[in-house]
Amino acid sequence: MEFKEVLERRRTIRDFSDRDVTPDIIMNAIENGFKAPSYNHLRDWEFVVIRSSATKIMLIDSEELGKPVDMGELNRIFENEEAVKKEMYLDAIPKQKKMILTAPVVVAVIFKPKTRVEEARRVYDLNCLASVWACIENFLLSLAEQDVFGVTYIPQNTASVKEKLGVPGEYEIAALIPVGYKADSAKALRQIDIDVQKRIHYERWD
Ligand SMILES: Cc1cc2nc3c(=O)[nH]c(=O)nc-3n(C[C@H](O)[C@H](O)[C@H](O)COP(=O)(O)O)c2cc1C
Repeated sequence: MEFKEVLERRRTIRDFSDRDVTPDIIMNAIENGFKAPSYNHLRDWEFVVIRSSATKIMLIDSEELGKPVDMGELNRIFENEEAVKKEMYLDAIPKQKKMILTAPVVVAVIFKPKTRVEEARRVYDLNCLASVWACIENFLLSLAEQDVFGVTYIPQNTASVKEKLGVPGEYEIAALIPVGYKADSAKALRQIDIDVQKRIHYERWD
């Protein structure tokens, strides 16, 4: 597949079919993840591949995603937001639990921080996070080439998720990525049109 075609095909998908994703597809995506640039040359990234319902339920419990979502309240919260952003949140928020449960595979992407998250003060201190996200993009592009998609869910109760997955204290979880084939009903949401020319500045911003 052409590179541009893969780039355009990658979209966030939150509705998965029950078709399984083979271990070789996941392995290949992780291998391609490791081809990303890394701030310290060490590629301090680890992956936990989750397939069991018990572990997925444990993630949902840790993240307290079990509570029902009040759509009226969500509509109020995002009332004054830009339409495409509101559309995305109203579609995404109610699906956070289901996407973890119904994806055949959830991949936890883990990195070794340079500076503890609580102590980061400069962009430079976040080099480790920047690097792992380069890895995540390679991972997602690699999946898209195989018609497999993911959604990058960022856990909030990281201490609990780390403990449940047995992640050593000095590591952090960058994202939990439910991965699967698209359900027939899956929709890719509207994107904001970007006038790229207007985002490029030459020599100075103004
Ligand atoms: C840093 C980051 C955090 C995100 N967190 C979540 C999340 O917690 N839950 C979710 O459903 N999607 C999450 N997303 C997916 C975004 O909503 C999605 O990438 C965005 O709407 C653009 O859509 P696209 O990926 O189809 O281009 C996240 C994406 C990024 C890059």
